[in-house]
Amino acid sequence: MAPLRVAIAGLGTVGAAVADILIARKDLIAARCGRSIELVAVSARDRERDRGVDLSGMDWFDDAAVMATEADADVILELIGGEDGIAKAVCENAIKAGRHVVTANKALLAMHGTALAQVAETANVALGYEASVAGGVPIIKALREGFAGNRISSIHGILNGTCNYILTTMRETGREFDDVLSEAQELGYAEADPTFDVEGIDAAHKLALLASVAFGTEVDFDAVHVEGIRHIRADDIAFADELGYRIKLLGIANQTEDGIEQRVYPCMVPMDAPLAHVEGVFNAVVAEGDAVGTSVLQGRGAGAGPTASAVISDIADIARGTILPVFSVPASQLSRTATVSLDSRTGPYYVRLTVLDRPGVIADVSAALRDEAVSVEALLQRGRSDGGSVPVVLTLHETVEANMQRALNRIADLDTVVEPPCMIRIEHL
Ligand SMILES: NC(=O)c1ccc[n+]([C@@H]2O[C@H](COP(=O)([O-])OP(=O)(O)OC[C@H]3O[C@@H](n4cnc5c(N)ncnc54)[C@H](OP(=O)(O)O)[C@@H]3O)[C@@H](O)[C@H]2O)c1
Repeated sequence: MAPLRVAIAGLGTVGAAVADILIARKDLIAARCGRSIELVAVSARDRERDRGVDLSGMDWFDDAAVMATEADADVILELIGGEDGIAKAVCENAIKAGRHVVTANKALLAMHGTALAQVAETANVALGYEASVAGGVPIIKALREGFAGNRISSIHGILNGTCNYILTTMRETGREFDDVLSEAQELGYAEADPTFDVEGIDAAHKLALLASVAFGTEVDFDAVHVEGIRHIRADDIAFADELGYRIKLLGIANQTEDGIEQRVYPCMVPMDAPLAHVEGVFNAVVAEGDAVGTSVLQGRGAGAGPTASAVISDIADIARGTILPVFSVPASQLSRTATVSLDSRTGPYYVRLTVLDRPGVIADVSAALRDEAVSVEALLQRGRSDGGSVPVVLTLHETVEANMQRALNRIADLDTVVEPPCMIRIEHL
């Protein structure tokens, strides 16, 4: 068979690693795909920069969007990033020109996934994005192919390695968020602008894609409820430990009778849950299928090697002629399903209050909870501070989120509560 010709837009962490593997493992990949993969063209901003791979003999394009149309290639890899702009132009141009596209860009697909899937399927080309969710963990392949015979009721997991690294390090060292974030930036585990990671947006991008593949629904990033981890304190992590939990930033998507739930927030998971032991930069995804039961996939969620590994699996599929609907069913058949509001979540909660150390405070807090039908499971207070403030921790029995929020608003208004309450949901997944 003729070689599959590939062009790469973006030669950064991921693009350079993909080029390196395609060149270094040429024979192995050719044997597995039944034809060779030939790198024919590349594009990046700085032509002079050493990428650590031999790019001689390849066409260089200053404009990646032009390369998508004009390169002598069957597949265009979009490895630039960003939810619009050049990345979107590269994908659209490539599809229009009848070329297959492979991308690692979750932001782009979370925003434009359904529309891009529609044009790709109409043009009869592949749109591969394995690398955009959980890096090297082949979760898109598992959902689309491995679990094809299942109805998936839930897909949830640790989808952001930066947050998991920060939470793990806070627990291991007892240090506060800001301190650990600075260190993560120095070590290259967090970006200079960490907003997308620590505010939960990156995990929400990935969750929106997982929900679409799992449930056959249109990608709906706006329907994802998103909270990040900035408000988590070392105290919360220590209290969680004492109560038998670990704090993890989870993406959770459930299919219910009322519609789809899509949520990203930090939560407490029991110490014996599989996700509790996924530490550091690792990602893990749990899928619940009606035939297969519970499956857990775990691995490195980012970095040059794991991400390139996923990109190459999409290229290998194209080389073998395996072109599947982008989100498990054809884009024209993706449903638009109602979003279930977080207000209806029912579950246990953890609340940390900073209160003045005075008689009567606990009675006022209890009254607010009682009035909203929230019942207390346990109360912990550590230390005394004559006239000063002390942390008080409550765990609450199963209750409805809307009631919990009303109770928290009332508690926040008490004169004796000196900081906004910190609430963390408890998930028995
Ligand atoms: N890094 C990871 O671990 C990881 C994991 C999963 C997914 N991803 C996704 O993979 C994609 C790439 O990430 P990355 O970490 O490899 O990014 P990166 O290291 O910042 O590389 C981006 C590359 O794009 C090039 N570029 C920027 N603007 C361009 C333009 N207008 N035309 C042509 N090339 C342009 C840059 O060129 P210069 O080098 O010349 O500046 C650079 O080579 C993103 O969508 C990201 O979300 C990354």
